[in-house]
Amino acid sequence: MIIRKYTDSDNLQWVRCRVLSLLDTAYFDNVLREKEHYQNPSIELVAEVDGKIIGLIDVEYEIERGTVCYYNKQLGGVIRNLAVLPEYRKLGIATVLLNEAIRSLKVNEIERVEVWTRDDKWVNDWYKNRGFSFKKFYLHVYTESDECDEIVKVKVEKLHVCNCFAHYVGENTEEIKSKFKRIHKCNLYELYL
Ligand SMILES: CC(C)(COP(=O)(O)OP(=O)(O)OC[C@H]1O[C@@H](n2cnc3c(N)ncnc32)[C@H](O)[C@@H]1OP(=O)(O)O)[C@@H](O)C(=O)NCCC(=O)NCCS
Repeated sequence: MIIRKYTDSDNLQWVRCRVLSLLDTAYFDNVLREKEHYQNPSIELVAEVDGKIIGLIDVEYEIERGTVCYYNKQLGGVIRNLAVLPEYRKLGIATVLLNEAIRSLKVNEIERVEVWTRDDKWVNDWYKNRGFSFKKFYLHVYTESDECDEIVKVKVEKLHVCNCFAHYVGENTEEIKSKFKRIHKCNLYELYL
């Protein structure tokens, strides 16, 4: 296995690796058709075996405090993507990707890293086991058909809202959880480098 920088010719393999790696997670329908690019500097690495991309990490980082991260006391980076194909998991590949990204971040004088992740226990544990600490959460709320009427008022005649995706940042999380079928806790973790 080699860890190397992403190049534009990796786009299709990158997208495939990401979508297949997210299928068994709470991000199963978060599908991209092209790789994300970032407004700020970034570390973009892939893990490759026999010419195939089997893992990836993207960390966008700031050169001015508070332009990328949620917290702004130190210069930081945000892990935008981290994924390893299911058949290559538990071999240490994500750990190597993270460590390599951290090495590059330190070279760029980045002092901390943030990541937002949903409620998959094993993913949360993965971050905690690598020294990340939980900071806060809010809810990702998906609604379908009649559920949408609970949260939106349509202003256009004969237009029916069939699906919604919303962020809930209030205190009444139990009420929201009981009201809608698909809710994800979106957790913020941080790591000091
Ligand atoms: C989280 C993820 C990147 C870890 O990749 P990995 O290469 O398997 O991780 P490593 O081999 O470096 O680490 C292995 C650890 O992950 C755990 N792990 C990995 N896949 C697992 C799975 N499917 N179920 C349970 N535990 C799993 C191992 O038990 C091991 O635990 P440890 O923390 O006690 O060491 C990978 O599971 C993945 O791609 N998940 C889906 C994508 C995702 O949700 N990304 C995060 C969004 S920000």
